[in-house]
Amino acid sequence: MLRGSAKLGTTDFMIDFRTSRPVRPRRSALSVPAINRRALEKARELDCDVVIFDLEDSVALEKKAEARDNLRRFFAKGPLAGRECVIRINALTSAFAEDDMAVVLACVPDAVLLPKVNEPEDIQTACDLLNEAGAPDSLRLWAMVETPRAVLNAAAIAEYGRTPDTRFDGFVIGLNDLRKDTGVPALPGRTYLVAWMMQVILAARAYGLDVLDSVCNDFKDLPAFEQECEQGRQMGFDGKMLIHPAQIRGANRAFGISPEALSEAQAVIAAFADPATAGVNVINVEGRMIERLHLEQAERLMQKLRLIQGETP
Ligand code: COA
Ligand code: MG
Repeated sequence: MLRGSAKLGTTDFMIDFRTSRPVRPRRSALSVPAINRRALEKARELDCDVVIFDLEDSVALEKKAEARDNLRRFFAKGPLAGRECVIRINALTSAFAEDDMAVVLACVPDAVLLPKVNEPEDIQTACDLLNEAGAPDSLRLWAMVETPRAVLNAAAIAEYGRTPDTRFDGFVIGLNDLRKDTGVPALPGRTYLVAWMMQVILAARAYGLDVLDSVCNDFKDLPAFEQECEQGRQMGFDGKMLIHPAQIRGANRAFGISPEALSEAQAVIAAFADPATAGVNVINVEGRMIERLHLEQAERLMQKLRLIQGETP
């Protein structure tokens, strides 16, 4: 056990930084504008892992109250089986946050997605609000990383978020806002944004958190979208935020488990299950060095596969 310390508050605590993060498929996280009742109903039948019900940027200022009412009615009809439900509220500093939080408390989604987060205190404020209102521990917090300060503070936010009782589960990168604030244009390959994105991924991984890639605005160009998914997978993201149902299949494929990855994992598990490898840490599997750390990865992959296939943990 390594010793960790809380950045905020006075509590010193023990945290096991080696603990691997819980496995939860988050390949595809579809944003659904809460103002769009047709899209809300459509979300009931879509095959994404996560639905993000959006009260923020996709809802016009004068329509916020109507969007909240839509969500109350939608959740009153019952949860979405097998999918994680997240409500993206407006920024905590905005005039809408209080009413948005009231909707969250009435609907009890799996998580609240906080936009325009800048520093650990933003997570703390949201957490305090949920605690004071008596929200169940199962109600988690996610943060959009979409401001220059959030990128710079990603490690501090992740470190704070990893402390017990902060409800924090991870990051979603928001490149549209980040491009707006930094002046970096939208180029194919996201050339000048990659370094910042990797910094956020590293921060998430350092503290055992999940991290999702940003949306791809061009929902008609599926080949370009698939390339972006592949890039995101290679960068190490767990999944991608989406804006259109047509993007779900590509994201599920890219961030899912390929037949090659599955057979490789099965070979590693079989190799270490052989009694001949008992007490051995490094073995030769078809000309490649395999270590016990690969066994952990393989077991994690199999666990994810079982969850994708609908088995309860
Ligand atoms: N969630 C659920 N259903 C959606 C959807 C979404 N995000 N986007 C589109 N659909 C539905 C449409 O309602 C339509 O359903 P129908 O055939 O039953 O009428 C179908 O998918 C096809 O939609 P299409 O005509 O191709 O697109 P559109 O013009 O209706 O919508 C957008 C295009 C971009 C406006 C819409 O996809 C959207 O609002 N996306 C989310 C935006 C968002 O959340 N932004 C904030 C986060 S960045
Ligand atoms: Mg944004």
